[in-house]
Amino acid sequence: MSTITCGIVGAGGQVGPALLGSLSGDPRIQVFGICRNEVSAGPLRLEGYDIRCGSVADPAAASDLLGDCDVVINCAATSGTPAKKSVAERSLIHALCGLPGRRRVIHFSSVAVYGTCIDAGRNPFERPRPDQPYGRHKLDLERYLWRRLRASGHEAVVLRLGHVYGAGQWLSRFVLDATREPRFRLPFDGRLPSNAIHVKNVSAAIRSLILDWPRPGTYNLFDAPASTWRQVFDWNTNAVGASRVPAMGDAESERVAAYHRGQAARSLATHVASEIAAWTRTLPGSFIAACPAVKTLGIVTLATLRQEWLERHILKRYKVMAARASAGTAAMPALDSWLLSEGAPGAQLPYRGEVDIEDAAAVAGWHTRYAEPDALLNWDAPSLGVSRIALN
Ligand SMILES: NC(=O)c1ccc[n+]([C@@H]2O[C@H](COP(=O)([O-])OP(=O)(O)OC[C@H]3O[C@@H](n4cnc5c(N)ncnc54)[C@H](OP(=O)(O)O)[C@@H]3O)[C@@H](O)[C@H]2O)c1
Repeated sequence: MSTITCGIVGAGGQVGPALLGSLSGDPRIQVFGICRNEVSAGPLRLEGYDIRCGSVADPAAASDLLGDCDVVINCAATSGTPAKKSVAERSLIHALCGLPGRRRVIHFSSVAVYGTCIDAGRNPFERPRPDQPYGRHKLDLERYLWRRLRASGHEAVVLRLGHVYGAGQWLSRFVLDATREPRFRLPFDGRLPSNAIHVKNVSAAIRSLILDWPRPGTYNLFDAPASTWRQVFDWNTNAVGASRVPAMGDAESERVAAYHRGQAARSLATHVASEIAAWTRTLPGSFIAACPAVKTLGIVTLATLRQEWLERHILKRYKVMAARASAGTAAMPALDSWLLSEGAPGAQLPYRGEVDIEDAAAVAGWHTRYAEPDALLNWDAPSLGVSRIALN
């Protein structure tokens, strides 16, 4: 039986190890991971995965590392400053598109391209309008990939991946942290679509993509069937035996949702203009508060002038401005706007979801490990052949 060779770039992140685990169990697929260095490669090798080390952003190294691949999965996400991220990830895409021959590229984009609080009416699938730097960056990479691909023989599927949960994933950490936050309330009792996906379903979708390549293009990738926030929260809290997070009432949810949707709908230029206008209204108080030496100078001047009426007048104005400044922020509960989002527009990649009872047990095991303060010390390093010196 001929196998499909598949390389995962960025294999050491949150999603990469789950893909390695799932794909390496399929006899039709030969999978390996690529890490930039031995630090991220080490734990994966200990798990028994085939890992190559090197920088795919270097075109010559990319050819060596990925030369035998039929399918390349780009899971890389650089951390750091915006320009650094953009340069590094564009270089990586440039090198992938420059690989010789005809390859199939699976590129992970993000649901963040639709904005943090999706309003499908103003954020169509074809022309999404991200409101935050991460979403803008991911959309820029999508467009860059399609441009570079024109000059190559490769085909690509871009996946606008939803918020990922499951053992080791940030969204499960968020949910389980929320259970320890007494003020947390789930808007609309979690009836809104989550645009989330269990990491096991990411693997299921990727496996079906590799084995049954669809029409190249861009697809959303969320749970199949789609999950609401209540389902995502309850799945995680049930897995670890924690109590259900309480609901936010509908009236309060409507108010918070209107605020977040309004924020997401405003352009960056409108935000800048309104924030500058709000700031000028707080002058000179905000300027004095930001410059302690100016405040001292004011006190010294008032003491020298000895004009009590002027002192009373200034103090009154200062208190009114401070009250106005704090009133705006105190009224709105702190909440991540993606909890108030609509469902993302556009086509979802078809696949069969695979989450089962074992995945809940995996979250419980992971939670126990990360919840303990000395979790790292409990790691059974000697049995894995890792020396104490290496750990230190
Ligand atoms: N997790 C989510 O909820 C989510 C949601 C939507 C979209 N996505 C997207 O899905 C992809 C995978 O997500 P993730 O959560 O697994 O990301 P992650 O945990 O941040 O891992 C990213 C991986 O990329 C590697 N990397 C960074 N810069 C690189 C470079 N210049 N060249 C090669 N590798 C590089 C890192 O390797 P080192 O270990 O060597 O530093 C790391 O292993 C990303 O594109 C992300 O934006 C994720």
